[in-house]
Amino acid sequence: MKFNRIVLIMAMEDEARPIIKELNLTPRGKLLSPLPMEFYEGKYKSLNLDLVTSGKCDKHNVDHIGPQAAILNTASAISQLQPDLIINPGTAGGFVSAGGNIGDVYLSYPMVCYHDRRIPLPGFDAYGIGSYYCFDTREIANSLGLKMGIVSTGSSLDYTPKDLDLIKSYGGVVKEMEAASIAWVADLYKIPFFAIKSITDLVDNSTPTEEEFLKNLESASIALSREVFRVIDFIAK
Ligand code: ADE
Repeated sequence: MKFNRIVLIMAMEDEARPIIKELNLTPRGKLLSPLPMEFYEGKYKSLNLDLVTSGKCDKHNVDHIGPQAAILNTASAISQLQPDLIINPGTAGGFVSAGGNIGDVYLSYPMVCYHDRRIPLPGFDAYGIGSYYCFDTREIANSLGLKMGIVSTGSSLDYTPKDLDLIKSYGGVVKEMEAASIAWVADLYKIPFFAIKSITDLVDNSTPTEEEFLKNLESASIALSREVFRVIDFIAK
């Protein structure tokens, strides 16, 4: 594939650490002071590879997860690094009803949507959902044996019945907290984008999400790093 500079946009340090190691990236400190984003840099074959995490919240001493920080991260990364492809690796919830299993890794296709921006006004209802089309990941997914599906973004780890109704209405199979925000900014700049999501928990089973998420975060992040490496290797060919 014809890319030269890929930027990986990520939320949590725990999710990023195995990828930074697998891709042998070098920490370069803050991307753009005083913003909290942390910048890592490297090369793979002929590709320039950058990774930017959203950094930590000084006030609450946790990672900046969620749609707002993802937008700031992506806009800063684009202006500083000028990527020609943006990838968002991360962890996510899957759905038993869609055949999802913990440890599955999905590529976003054909789009990413928002499930918690409900605006029942003409035109604004579709605007709220977003429906941002992704780079066509079918060749990568089929070659590497990865699942594909619609990724759905919201601000919460849990969900309301309305969130689930909306996810169902557009056929979402992966639920997380950043992809649609990153896709929106990528779309403004006309930079191709897709997400890679590793499943830590199943939304429609009886175990509380937070319990499953914490239990599976490490193994899902390791599975994610393995698949991110395979995807980068495929793109580098
Ligand atoms: N990240 C991991 N699991 C998630 C879920 N169920 N919802 C939102 N973000 C997640």
